[in-house]
Amino acid sequence: MKAVGFTEFGGPEVLQTFELPVPDAGPGGVRIRVSAATVNAVDALQRSGPARSPDARPPFVPGMEAAGVVDQIGAGTDTDLRVGDRVMAFVLADGSRGAYAEQVVVPAESVVRAPHGVSDAEAATLPMNGLTARLALDTLGLKAGQTVAVTGAAGAVGGYAVQLAKADGLRVVADASEQDETLVKELGADIVLRRGAEYPGRVRTEVPEGVDGLLDGASLGALTARAVRDGGRVVTLRGYDGPGERGIVYQPIVVFRYAREHAKLDRLRQQAEDGRIILRVARTFPAEQAAEAHRLLAAGGVRGRLVLTF
Ligand SMILES: NC(=O)c1ccc[n+]([C@@H]2O[C@H](COP(=O)([O-])OP(=O)(O)OC[C@H]3O[C@@H](n4cnc5c(N)ncnc54)[C@H](OP(=O)(O)O)[C@@H]3O)[C@@H](O)[C@H]2O)c1
Repeated sequence: MKAVGFTEFGGPEVLQTFELPVPDAGPGGVRIRVSAATVNAVDALQRSGPARSPDARPPFVPGMEAAGVVDQIGAGTDTDLRVGDRVMAFVLADGSRGAYAEQVVVPAESVVRAPHGVSDAEAATLPMNGLTARLALDTLGLKAGQTVAVTGAAGAVGGYAVQLAKADGLRVVADASEQDETLVKELGADIVLRRGAEYPGRVRTEVPEGVDGLLDGASLGALTARAVRDGGRVVTLRGYDGPGERGIVYQPIVVFRYAREHAKLDRLRQQAEDGRIILRVARTFPAEQAAEAHRLLAAGGVRGRLVLTF
């Protein structure tokens, strides 16, 4: 099978196409004939090195989410899926066998039917980034009627977080650049304030007591505290863990924790089908052009996900 990966760490140019053995689904596994795999920041981090897992062997194949069709179900696998079903999956790669491949094997808990009425490219944008937003909101643990601030709201995780927070009944104060203001309003944010280092102060002006929780998709780190009420909580996505002030707790999350949260992934499917979550694709690339997609991602300003097609 064709896969895209690298044998040495470096810039986008290290990405190449390889011919690799077709993996076997094995007990508990589902093999997917991948048609779409998204390009995420973590793929670029993996590509730049160093290796994260001592067990990973080159060629390293990145990719944490995919959509396609079930083409093999392992013996004894507990699933209601059948060969031929359209699916989307969270791919927890150990660094060596990710979603940038014609075929990928995932545990049955990491794969659900793809939402009806969307393309495979759109479906592929949901599992990893949607579960990250879900985990972030679950970690904040807010109740309907409480207020959450979201930075990086025009991005993939931030955008899903705004939509899921609204579906949870929260009041959402999101950030946006001037160009992204309409987009972020359309995602459902109640209040949209200009992004950047001054955003936390702007939040405090709008919400004088401070927000109950904040999801820091733009990695503003310590700057976020100003927006948050005493004893509030901030979820961070790149490991920032404080120190907090006024009892504010910084809580880094890692989406791996939700890799096998089948019911949560299936709920995301339902929410996409119900139109509560909009799936955004910036552009698709034939898999052979993965390096170009990585360059575009590094340049910033991409709205919606870049997707490789196989
Ligand atoms: N912990 C985990 O498990 C996990 C899982 C998924 C993602 N992540 C991390 O979460 C972060 C968000 O991921 P993503 O896929 O949503 O990225 P994304 O789609 O690129 O979104 C990030 C957004 O933040 C904006 N931004 C950048 N700098 C900013 C600033 N100073 N102020 C306000 N906004 C700013 C970006 O705008 P521009 O494009 O204009 O720069 C973009 O709209 C990344 O750091 C990613 O690595 C972590």
